[in-house]
Amino acid sequence: MRITILTLFPNWFDGPCHESILARAQEAGLVEIRVRQLRDWTTDRHRTVDDAPYGGGGGMVLKAEPVAAALDELAGPPGAPDRARVLFTSPRGTTWNHPRAIQHATARQDIVVLCGHYEGLDERVIETRVDEEVSLGDFVLTGGEIAAMAIVDSIVRLLPGALGAPEGAATDSFATGLLEAPHYTRPEIFDGHAVPEVLLSGNHAAIARWRHEQALAITAARRPDLHAQHLADHPPPPPRARRPRVKAKEPATPAPPNDPLE
Ligand SMILES: C[S@@+](CC[C@H](N)C(=O)[O-])C[C@H]1O[C@@H](n2cnc3c(N)ncnc32)[C@H](O)[C@@H]1O
Repeated sequence: MRITILTLFPNWFDGPCHESILARAQEAGLVEIRVRQLRDWTTDRHRTVDDAPYGGGGGMVLKAEPVAAALDELAGPPGAPDRARVLFTSPRGTTWNHPRAIQHATARQDIVVLCGHYEGLDERVIETRVDEEVSLGDFVLTGGEIAAMAIVDSIVRLLPGALGAPEGAATDSFATGLLEAPHYTRPEIFDGHAVPEVLLSGNHAAIARWRHEQALAITAARRPDLHAQHLADHPPPPPRARRPRVKAKEPATPAPPNDPLE
């Protein structure tokens, strides 16, 4: 899988793309991450990527021509059969989440993540070349770089082989539809607070039960929306129908002896 990040600030990615899981995933050949400077697709001496908005208003707008040229080269022209999927970071987009990260990690289709800047991007590029507008949440960042990094990281860690201990990912928040249960490590007592006893019991079934109960309780308290969805997806089994109690057979009353007088 190849991920290309298109940005005005390529140096921004030097650190995050070369540390920890992202670095290992690239070394292992699971993913290729390329970072490209948008100004390389400008045609003027000043490498201009922005202009004033039609209709006035503050701020500048990313111009259509350099962005379109870059996307057509990096992702493929619109309509090309093997075109990479183009994601544009934008507060107007739909919020990024675990299911979307799973979709991309499973499809393993190449993606290009376009980082916005200034007031935004000429709408005509969005209409003709963007497949998904992605928001990180209901707040405004200075540029799309942080959002791009979050998107890339959340996809790459889901690629098979990317995590050193993949079993941990199975219980990560959202993987089960719930938030995760609390974690503890040594020492057994910290600041007078002891580790829950069940975790020291060695009883794996009891530990799994405890973690599930904790995950349910934390999700119900913090994310009632997820909790409701979980209950809808995993309805409790219907109570077992009570079998009607069969009356114990009364010992058959012995037939009265034939009355010799009848
Ligand atoms: C200053 S913001 C522009 C905000 C824009 N004028 C608006 O109100 O929607 C510059 C760029 O940062 C990125 N950005 C800002 N907030 C974001 C968010 N919540 N999620 C994803 N990207 C964001 C986008 O790429 C955006 O084009």
